Amino acid sequence: MNKLLLVISIACMGVSCTSADELEYEQYLVNGEAIYKAECANCHGQKGEGLRNLYPALKGNGALENSDKVICSIKNGISADKAKSSQAMPPNAKLFDLDVAQLVTYLNKEFGSNKDKITDKQVKMALDNCRD
Ligand code: HEC
Repeated sequence: MNKLLLVISIACMGVSCTSADELEYEQYLVNGEAIYKAECANCHGQKGEGLRNLYPALKGNGALENSDKVICSIKNGISADKAKSSQAMPPNAKLFDLDVAQLVTYLNKEFGSNKDKITDKQVKMALDNCRD
């Protein structure tokens, strides 16, 4: 058996045969969920349900359709004067681009209507173009 076949057959020993892309996507979702639970869920809720009129629900929130804007909001926060709810969202500067990519991939999958996988390159580009 040549090396490639060996690698493929090892990758296929699990329940189903997954490609490298699918594996990476699954990894993004697992990491993204952990970041969401640690950094966002205390305000937006474990299931994205929000908290009364204090914190908006993320589940089904149309704001998720614009991933670039979501990326900017995560890193830079939403200042009280820009906020729809008059409440600010604090910036989260400590997240790396890859963290944000995994987080937004998870948000899209769990709560959004666009199921896009976001890469760290996309995060960097979005952050270079944040409006405010
Ligand atoms: C301290 C509480 C708090 C934390 C933590 C927080 N947010 Fe927010 N978030 C808010 C508030 C308040 C708003 C509403 C701002 C407004 O009215 O525009 C908001 C708005 C948003 C919006 C825009 C929703 C809309 O309807 O326009 C998104 C997307 C979002 N948050 C995602 C996140 C993500 C992802 C995280 C984790 C990295 C996070 N937030 C962490 C409080 C928080």
